[in-house]
Amino acid sequence: MCGEVRIQGSKNAALPILAASVLIPGMSRIANCPRISDVTCMCRILESIGCRVTWEKHDLFVDASSVRRSCLPQEYVTRMRSSVMLMGALLGRCEEVTLDYPGGCVIGDRPIDIHLAALKKLGVFYEQRENVLTVRRKKLQGAGIEFPFPSVGATENAILAAVLAEGETLLTGCAREPEISALCSFLKNAGACIEGEGTGSIRIRGVEKLCETEYVIESDRIVAGTYLISVLAAGGEAFLKEAPAEQMEAVCRIAGQMGARLETWEDGIFIKRNKELISPGKVKTLVYPGFPTDLQSPLLVAMSQAEGESCLEESIFNGRFKVTEELNRMNMDIKVRGREAFLSGKRRLMGTNVLAQELRGGAALVIAGLCAEGITIVGNRHFIDRGYEDIVRDFRKLRAQAGN
Ligand code: EPZ
Repeated sequence: MCGEVRIQGSKNAALPILAASVLIPGMSRIANCPRISDVTCMCRILESIGCRVTWEKHDLFVDASSVRRSCLPQEYVTRMRSSVMLMGALLGRCEEVTLDYPGGCVIGDRPIDIHLAALKKLGVFYEQRENVLTVRRKKLQGAGIEFPFPSVGATENAILAAVLAEGETLLTGCAREPEISALCSFLKNAGACIEGEGTGSIRIRGVEKLCETEYVIESDRIVAGTYLISVLAAGGEAFLKEAPAEQMEAVCRIAGQMGARLETWEDGIFIKRNKELISPGKVKTLVYPGFPTDLQSPLLVAMSQAEGESCLEESIFNGRFKVTEELNRMNMDIKVRGREAFLSGKRRLMGTNVLAQELRGGAALVIAGLCAEGITIVGNRHFIDRGYEDIVRDFRKLRAQAGN
């Protein structure tokens, strides 16, 4: 591989910010928004409750002046996990919200108990009938909330419900992912009173109302990490323009350990790997700023090409090794035992027809195809399009042999 690719805006920052836009009785301009199917799905949900949504290139305009419904459409809600953010956001505008249990990638259990426990502390009551959840509140009341696990979504939902609550909310044990800080920056631009984002404790003082605002979405650290790992696995060099290096320390550290040369420039990351790839030994996925679970499947492919045995432990989700079945059909010889995957290394991958079953596993299959002999056809491309604007376009820019 040899080329340059500009990194798209962050999916996991854009989705909660889109949910947050319903808190604003007016226009929000969200710039550098990735044109991916999860964003399209969220836009459909916003339109279904009365928002007006328009695109201008990569700028998304959401007018939430007249939110008039709060019963969310099953068709879209069950397609993706981040629809659950609308619970916290809509409760800032409506006394009752009804939605189906959210969908999302099949990467393990996706309960929302931590979300509901946090909302309950803020004065929200909920009832569940089969797969439908109704949440209601008289008045949102600030509270102290200690998260049992730093859940990204639950932290975001609590912030969304607290910004217009009466009084002060103190969140402790919060997630520290950059997407939390992005959401808080958007809300503060609109007049919210928040401090401590990016640390484990966030303090929110409720305000009466939020005002029209605009925000530029940061680059996607997981998309950048995907392409960085593809160069690691397949060899060559690339410039990842606008890659958020300051959010990618863990993945850059592993890439350096495996033999890549990386340079962080002002406007991106340069990576070159033309020497032997060396096993990083054991890697464990962790909450931010540790090695991200969303890059676990791509890293498996790089480990399969490295000299020496490797082990990858998935500590965040309890079912994120599904993709190994398809990778083993390409001769990767991964052995999964519980939360650990073991690889022998220096595998000669053989191209074949494989099926993506979720977003990041799908991206890993494309990377495996770039390392394999012969042609690999990755089916179910729609899973990949949930989070990558155009993975074929991007790999073509990196002069990798990928096609539609
Ligand atoms: C967000 O999912 C991301 N999605 C995921 O990215 C990412 O993998 C994950 O955070 C971890 O970083 C979006 O931001 C849209 P969690 P989320 O709540 O919020 C358990 C991708 O590929 N948990 O931090 O769902 C849960 O089961 C996607 O872009 C509960 O038990 O993640 C999991 O084991 C995939 N109860 C762990 O916490 C709850 O109420 C982490 O979940 C909530 C979560």
